[in-house]
Amino acid sequence: MQQNEKGLKDFRSVLGMKAMSYEWVIETKELTKSYGPHVALDSLSINVPKGATGLLGPNGAGKSTFFKTILGLIQATSGEGKVLGHDIRTEGLDIRSKIGYMPEYEALDNDMDAIHQVRYSGELLGMNPVVAMARAHTAMEYVGLGELRYRPISSFSTGMKQATKLACSIIHDPQLIIADEPSNGLDATARDSMLTTLYNMVHSGGRSVLMSSHLMEDVERVCESMVLLHKGKLAAQGRIEDLKAIDREIEIHVWGSANELEQAMGKDGLEVRREGRIMRIKHDGENTTHRILKCAAQTGAQIRRMHEYEASLEDLFIVIMERFGYGVKSSEDLLASPAEARRVDAPEHMGGSGS
Ligand SMILES: Nc1ncnc2c1ncn2[C@@H]1O[C@H](COP(=O)(O)OP(=O)(O)OP(=O)(O)O)[C@@H](O)[C@H]1O
Ligand SMILES: [Mg+2]
Repeated sequence: MQQNEKGLKDFRSVLGMKAMSYEWVIETKELTKSYGPHVALDSLSINVPKGATGLLGPNGAGKSTFFKTILGLIQATSGEGKVLGHDIRTEGLDIRSKIGYMPEYEALDNDMDAIHQVRYSGELLGMNPVVAMARAHTAMEYVGLGELRYRPISSFSTGMKQATKLACSIIHDPQLIIADEPSNGLDATARDSMLTTLYNMVHSGGRSVLMSSHLMEDVERVCESMVLLHKGKLAAQGRIEDLKAIDREIEIHVWGSANELEQAMGKDGLEVRREGRIMRIKHDGENTTHRILKCAAQTGAQIRRMHEYEASLEDLFIVIMERFGYGVKSSEDLLASPAEARRVDAPEHMGGSGS
């Protein structure tokens, strides 16, 4: 982490900061991309703010297609879009010179050593070889590969290759880094280092990052906003914090008269999901807690624990999918997590865990 911070400082002083003057770093309107009859992006109107945004979606959702389309690497079928204020249809070159793109495919030449590969990516952007080499050193340092820079890429692990790809994408100090599955295939250490680097780019470096992933956890670690795609359609977008509030629930652990309590809450108009002694009640205004307690008093049920249940991004993903009618998972699966929240503190002889 500290080395990353230092690398960043050097990087900023060498390359200088640039001001941004538009509201959204990426903006699309009814963007559609079809491959023959197959609609890969279905009328997407997406706004990506400055900062870190995660593009989430299962395999085939259209994440990579979205990236290629907004970079002008493939032509949109219809609709429009802007990246850093540039039109994706006509200004692909401007866009690609201002952003850093880390593609999902391997994209590296195994016969080169890392530093020359990174320098080469700078030369491809039009830098002279001396400047490109100086920046390549800084970029390699920044991604944590300073000491390995002269090693051939063929000797690199997947994690080192991903980091090299990231170094290639930041050689020209872009304002926006678009990373397609940056943590894919990495072990815990390499993944941690990749996510830390991306996080630092935004939080200490003032850059914006749009990263795709199917791992909610990775997105939660780096990003404050997210865009959720499913089968080419936009399922949700916004600040993660706001999206999570959609699914706020109160979790209670009940001891005795659970059936009666469930019925009473149902009659009172509360939405209850239950697994044994654990129930989650959907937030229904300020007095939800009070109503739950009233039902418990009426039925003689004891509430052993009561807490606000914060949905994980994983849960949220499922809830949104359900609301969209895709039926990815049932609500039973929702209630089944997280394991930690399901510990019950009733004595063992009463069927609890005894803790
Ligand atoms: N060149 C192509 N020709 C035809 N169909 C394609 C092409 N590229 C992608 N597709 C299809 O478009 C859809 C979206 O693919 P895309 O690669 O963008 O998804 P993704 O979200 O990146 O998936 P993954 O998580 O597997 O990387 C898929 O159904 C895919 O099969
Ligand atoms: Mg992809």
